[in-house]
Amino acid sequence: MANQLLSTVSCHDTLPEGYARPESDRPRLAEVATDSNIPLIDLASPDKLRVIAEIDRACRTYGFFQVINHGISEELLEKVMAVGLEFFRLPPEEKAKLYSDEPSKKIRLSTSFNVRKETVHNWRDYLRLHCHPLEEFVPDWPSNPEAFKEIISTYCREVRLLGLRLMGAISLSLGLDENYVENVLGEQEQHMAVNYYPRCPEPDLTYGLPKHTDPNALTVLLQDPNVSGLQVLKDGQWIAVDPRPNALVINLGDQLQALSNGAYKSVWHRAVVNAAQERMSVASFLCPCNSAVIGPAAKLVGDGDEPVYRSYTYDEYYNKFWSRNLDQEHCLELFRGQK
Ligand code: OGA
Ligand code: NI
Repeated sequence: MANQLLSTVSCHDTLPEGYARPESDRPRLAEVATDSNIPLIDLASPDKLRVIAEIDRACRTYGFFQVINHGISEELLEKVMAVGLEFFRLPPEEKAKLYSDEPSKKIRLSTSFNVRKETVHNWRDYLRLHCHPLEEFVPDWPSNPEAFKEIISTYCREVRLLGLRLMGAISLSLGLDENYVENVLGEQEQHMAVNYYPRCPEPDLTYGLPKHTDPNALTVLLQDPNVSGLQVLKDGQWIAVDPRPNALVINLGDQLQALSNGAYKSVWHRAVVNAAQERMSVASFLCPCNSAVIGPAAKLVGDGDEPVYRSYTYDEYYNKFWSRNLDQEHCLELFRGQK
């Protein structure tokens, strides 16, 4: 029901029932590290080979990196954040029109992760949109705020170009042909989650998003430039990925881990919330076409070795992903083996 949205209440003084995690599953914010070593890659660097080598290292170690000089203007990034925030500030009756908790709906305003299935909720509202081909979906996107469709569709177009360019670089960094990844993934879908994390009275007890890996191929995340919240798990330690001006965060999804035969990581990450400031992020997901058959690239499976993962269609994978809770074992574990 739309009244489950957190953003319909202007301020929460106490944590409502259903959001507190058990003691063993709390964010332990005091133990989170800050790490200035999260790779930062300058995509405008004239030394292309070096950029590819940096991407390779980042994908093997962190599965996460930030990019600057990515070609999307600062002005557009600001507009996207502003119009997103304006959307979440609309009156409740306006938002109720878009509310749904049915994960298969292609345009929906929702809350938490999968409210129908989960036992504990997450401190997040989100607007989920399908974005490719734009002509097919934009007519059904919110028309309030008035500038929403235009700003977000411009951003979607640019993010897609960036994502595909990165997939070319990732193919090369794996030692494959530049168009290998794109060819395997087919005509990719593009989805977006505009995430809104309100101020939370008890940030130590709950999550914005609990630890998860992204089920798709590649994610481009535009973070709130002023508020931290994204964290990645590296060697058992949670590390805050603090926002950098004009940078975009890139993370590999499960499909690139599978395709790379496990060489590249789709890492666990999560979003935490805080008591002082609301936070927004805009995640753009490039997703294989549903019928794409995904499995380790033959060239990356050593002579005489078995591939780490079996082949499957993305459709099969995605259905499995949504049938589970977000923070169970890595979904790819269910696709180990040959058959
Ligand atoms: C996601 C995600 C992180 C964030 O939407 O999949 O990981 O900081 N978001 O909002
Ligand atoms: Ni994610």
